[in-house]
Amino acid sequence: MQIPVEARGVTVSAGFKTLVSSVSFRAHPGEVLAILGPSGAGKSTLFRALNGSDAPGAGQVLYGPDELYTSFDRYRMQIGYVPQDDILHDALTPFEVLYFTGRLRLPDAPEERVRALADEVLAQVELSERRDVRVRRLSGGQRKRVNLGVELMTSPSVLFLDEPTSGLDPALEEKMMELFRKLARQGRTVFVTTHVTENLDMVDRVLLLCAGRLTFVGKPKAALGFFGVEHFSDIYAKLTGMGADHWARQFSASGPRDDGPVAVPPPQPRAAPAAARAANAAPGRPKTADELLAELEAEIEREKRR
Ligand SMILES: Nc1ncnc2c1ncn2[C@@H]1O[C@H](COP(=O)(O)OP(=O)(O)OP(=O)(O)O)[C@@H](O)[C@H]1O
Ligand SMILES: [Mg+2]
Repeated sequence: MQIPVEARGVTVSAGFKTLVSSVSFRAHPGEVLAILGPSGAGKSTLFRALNGSDAPGAGQVLYGPDELYTSFDRYRMQIGYVPQDDILHDALTPFEVLYFTGRLRLPDAPEERVRALADEVLAQVELSERRDVRVRRLSGGQRKRVNLGVELMTSPSVLFLDEPTSGLDPALEEKMMELFRKLARQGRTVFVTTHVTENLDMVDRVLLLCAGRLTFVGKPKAALGFFGVEHFSDIYAKLTGMGADHWARQFSASGPRDDGPVAVPPPQPRAAPAAARAANAAPGRPKTADELLAELEAEIEREKRR
């Protein structure tokens, strides 16, 4: 299933405080959209409004043609959400966490396939070496990746990853961004919040929030032009310097939105036959657990031959 997501005037308040103020944009299958902004800007709050956790006080969230909160049952299985805070049972090992998730969420899959899938997903999130270590002994970045693995077990069409790369070293962060892009290119709509600005050229769109206001959405390079800076890291100083209202006004006055679908390159042809079969099974839609497993198996084989 491919699911475009649209926010229309999404507004979230707590008491008298407006946490997210009339945010509108579109996100598309095949793309990674990074949500950026200072701490407290409202990124996690916006995520929860977009993914069915908390209905916004005003505005709409559309999944395809449907309003999410009135059609939630249709979409709940298609949504993967890795929250910012840890939600793992810390007495289990990463393998056990993924295995039990698989048994619960894929009740028709044979046990040995769930075991194999758990191991393949562990490899995908670079945790094979920590397979049997209790979660309480893992680092923050490793726990984050177990949480991501939990969501990957069911291959959701829309993925929300809240600070998925916090606590990762730069090399691993880049690898994870690659993984997010790959997951998107398989037909998913992928949302990522991040504070890290190094690898933003790897995402398709960036959305900047400041004090709950939308101050930019568009291609990463266009964001540099809009704020008149050379590096993404300089945007933060600009945002806080002139204030959210200034940039939100500038952005709404800046002409038509660039939030239509980005031309996404076709998936890379794969060398291994199993992977090729999986990739050709149905172009563009998220893979089934079987296809994902076939593809991951081929990848592991390739790794072994290297
Ligand atoms: N339930 C709540 N009631 C009142 N205020 C809240 C609530 N949840 C969040 N806030 C406030 O809303 C603002 C936005 O919080 P949010 O967690 O969305 O920010 P964020 O952009 O994700 O920040 P960070 O980068 O630190 O994760 C903050 O000022 C926070 O204190
Ligand atoms: Mg947050």
